[in-house]
Parts: sequence; structure tokens; C-alpha cells
Amino acid sequence: MTAVHRNVLEKGGPVLRFDAPVRADKSRVDMPVVVNLFGTPERVAAGLGVHVARLGELGAFLAALRSPAPPDGMRDALSRWPMLKAALSTRPKFITKAPVQQVVMQGNDADLGALPVQTHWPGDAGPLITWPVVLTRPADSSAEDIAKYNAGVYRAQVLGRDSLILRWLAHRGGAAHHRSWAKTGQPMPVAVVLGADPATLLSAALPLPETVSELSFAGVFSGARPRLVPARTVPMMVPGEAEIVIEGWVSPTATAPEGPFGDHTGYYNAAEPFPVMQVTAITHRRDPLYLSTYTGRPPDEPAIIGEVFNTLALPVIQAQIPEIRGLWLPPAACSYRIAVISIDKHYPGQARRVMMALWGMLPQFSYTKMIVVVDDDIDPTNWDDIAWAIATRMDPGRDVMILENTPMDYLDFASPEPGLAGKLGIDATTKIGSETRRDWGGVMKTAAHDADFAADLVARHLPDLGA
Ligand SMILES: Cc1cc2nc3c(=O)[nH]c(=O)nc-3n(C[C@H](O)[C@H](O)[C@H](O)COP(=O)(O)O)c2cc1C
Repeated sequence: MTAVHRNVLEKGGPVLRFDAPVRADKSRVDMPVVVNLFGTPERVAAGLGVHVARLGELGAFLAALRSPAPPDGMRDALSRWPMLKAALSTRPKFITKAPVQQVVMQGNDADLGALPVQTHWPGDAGPLITWPVVLTRPADSSAEDIAKYNAGVYRAQVLGRDSLILRWLAHRGGAAHHRSWAKTGQPMPVAVVLGADPATLLSAALPLPETVSELSFAGVFSGARPRLVPARTVPMMVPGEAEIVIEGWVSPTATAPEGPFGDHTGYYNAAEPFPVMQVTAITHRRDPLYLSTYTGRPPDEPAIIGEVFNTLALPVIQAQIPEIRGLWLPPAACSYRIAVISIDKHYPGQARRVMMALWGMLPQFSYTKMIVVVDDDIDPTNWDDIAWAIATRMDPGRDVMILENTPMDYLDFASPEPGLAGKLGIDATTKIGSETRRDWGGVMKTAAHDADFAADLVARHLPDLGA
């Protein structure tokens, strides 16, 4: 299934549904598997309730939400999305009967083996749930306190019929909630939602400001009040329209070695201890679909989602660093390890200031190993343009900045120490003022009328060459 999915995703193909999944022992699982839901940027945008062409505007709206006193451009964005703003203040609707509880399996009947959980790669430790929306809340909250809930996508290794490992990295919302319960010595109630609606799935994957609840946010994208139903065996509310919900408790202390699993870097992770969830119930629709995906060397679905999220994030970044014109996190570089930024440059040293501002601004950029800064006549998403700027505007002795002992993703095994690594900044901008004493070359450009004339002439006389 992983091989078929990868092949179709690389070709920009459709959502796939496997009607008759079989286990390694050839027994059949009576539940279809759906993959490649977010296999194209168009489908990710649709999940956010907009056309791809309007992602920039949606990004401006999100930036305005973060900002206490939105600057003019953002005020405009807020006024153009009045319905979204209203939806944010809409409270979820609590219901008592929901499709996700048409079938309830509790106690001994709750068997994770009944789900068609994929083992994706030859070296994987076992079956891995790849699209779980993990709902948690802090110890000082009640089940109805939806505003305090966190929703995050954290992969879950199936250990047996009633236990899972939840792999929230230390800086995630789920990990912070777990620490708050651990302080009280109490187990934490958890609901793992499988096959949530696209808006909830994407809200859970989106790094939202702490003050915005992912569950309310999903309502912004879908345009509907989220409908939540009480879980059957834990004090939590869960999305009533989901396909499947796994309920249970996470002990304050119990961990198990998770992995190895193939990850988005294209390598297997080393096994690391993560908390264990004891399952108390599995509820699902009468005919549920199991949503899955793989993570691997790009392209994978998270890389495509990442590209769309970058478009959404640009206005937030520009609000802090206004000279930034374009930003690209190449998917091939694991979506965040390399960044290319184009700037409107006006003073010496500006490229270095921009690098340091980006590294310091959002937590996700602390894992960006290398930043290349180019002028705004360079397309930061085009490797040929970037290579030309590096080859002609950069001197390795003067324009390279190397930092040591900065924070890094523990998944980066090339770092000398786990979690601590260097950073590389390359200033490939035109050198101005005190940055150079030499005459700088002028960029050659064909005159516009000559370019038009040539295009027309070639099109008429050599039509086979195309446009
Ligand atoms: C398919 C997929 C798998 C993911 N797996 C993990 C994971 O195993 N652990 C993790 O900490 N984050 C994982 N993430 C990233 C988080 O879901 C994402 O950063 C999210 O914003 C975290 O939410 P939080 O900030 O509320 O904790 C994954 C994302 C996707 C789309």
C-alpha cells in the first residue's frame, strides 16, 4: 500500500481507497483504508475551505488574528473575512448521540487489531497509526473546557490489542498537558481521533497560536459549528462526525521504546521512550473508513501540507520582518532544514540581520540548518536562480556565517550532539555600501521589446518549439 500510495502521490494523483486490506498473515481486515487525502496542494486548500489562489489572503487573516493591533493590510484581511472571525467566537455544539458512537467496543471487546493499521516500511518496528488527531486537556480543566484542549497529530505505535505509544515531541501541546497531569500524579485522559473531518485534521497539524483552540478553529475552515459528543469511558469530548475514536488513559510515568520507524527525513529513527496509552474503548461509525498515510523521504503528504502552510505563514513572518519578499522551505530538504529568503535590501549587513531574525522568531525555524538570503530579483523557489545568485553574489570568506551549539531537532543525526548543532547562513545578495569596495556588475537583461519580438518570431517560424 505504501508503494502504491507513493507512486500515485508522485504523479499528483487522486485519493485512494483500498477496499480489502490484508494483514501480513493474509487474513482480511473488514475496514477500507483511505490514503492520499492531502496528496495535492489543491486538496489541502480545499480542506481549509479555500481555493489555492486565496491561500495568501487566508494567511493574512491568520496573521491578523495573532497581532494585538493589526497593521493596515491585516485590518483589511480581517474585514474581508467577517464570517471567519465570527466563526472563531462560535462555541462548539455539544450533542448526546453521534455517528462516531454507532458501534462501541469496551473492555475486552476493544481490540486495536480490528483496525487495518499499516506497517509502512520494511524496517518498521510494527503497525503505526500515522494520522491520529490526539486530543488532550490540562489537569486544571474539565471535559467541557474545549478552549483548553490541544489537538496534535502524533504518530502512534500499536503495542497490542489495548495499548499504544503516543510520540509527542517534548515541545508539543500534548507533551505539555502530560507534564501537567504527571505533576498531580494522575493518569491523563486521552482521545485519539481517526478520520476526523479535513478541517480538524489540518487544524491539528497547523502550528496555531497557543490562544487559539484547534477544535474551534476547525469550525472556521469548515464553516460549521463543531459537534462534540462525550467520550464513553474518559472525561473528554470528541468530534461526533469522525470515523473512529480510541479512548484511554496515559500513565504519568509508564513509557515504552518507540520505533524504529521510517520518518519524513528519509531515514529510520532510533528507538526512543515515549508514553503509553491504555485503551478503554474504541468507538466507530457503522461502516468506518480508516485514514492512513506514510511518512518518508519527500515527497510525502506532510511535505505537501507543509508547502501550503508556508504560504499561510508568509504574512505572519512579514509582519515581523517586513523586508522579506519571498520564502521557500524546499520540500526536498525535509520541509524545514533549509530556507531560502528573498529580501528588499537597503543597507549593509541586512541579510545577516534577516537570518538571525528568522532563526529567533518562530520555534520551527530553530531547526533550519541553513538559510540562503537572495535579492528580490531572484526567485527563491527556483534552484537555478538560487545557484546563480550564490555563484555570482557570494564570497565564501565574507558572506558565510557559521554558528555553533544552537538548538536542533534530535532527529538530525548529523549534529555532533543530540539536540545541539551548528547553523549556516549564506548571504547571496548584492553587496552594497561598506560591504564591498569593488565595482559590482550590472545585471544583463534583454530589452522588453526585443524579447517580445523574439518570442513572436520564434513562435511563427519554429512553432514546434512551443511557447
Ligand atoms: C502525518 C503527520 C505526522 C506527524 N507526526 C508527528 C509525531 O509523531 N510527533 C510530533 O510531535 N509531531 C508530529 N507531527 C507534527 C505535529 O502534528 C504538528 O507540528 C502540530 O502542529 C503539533 O501540534 P501542537 O503544537 O498542538 O502540539 C506530524 C504531522 C503530520 C501531518
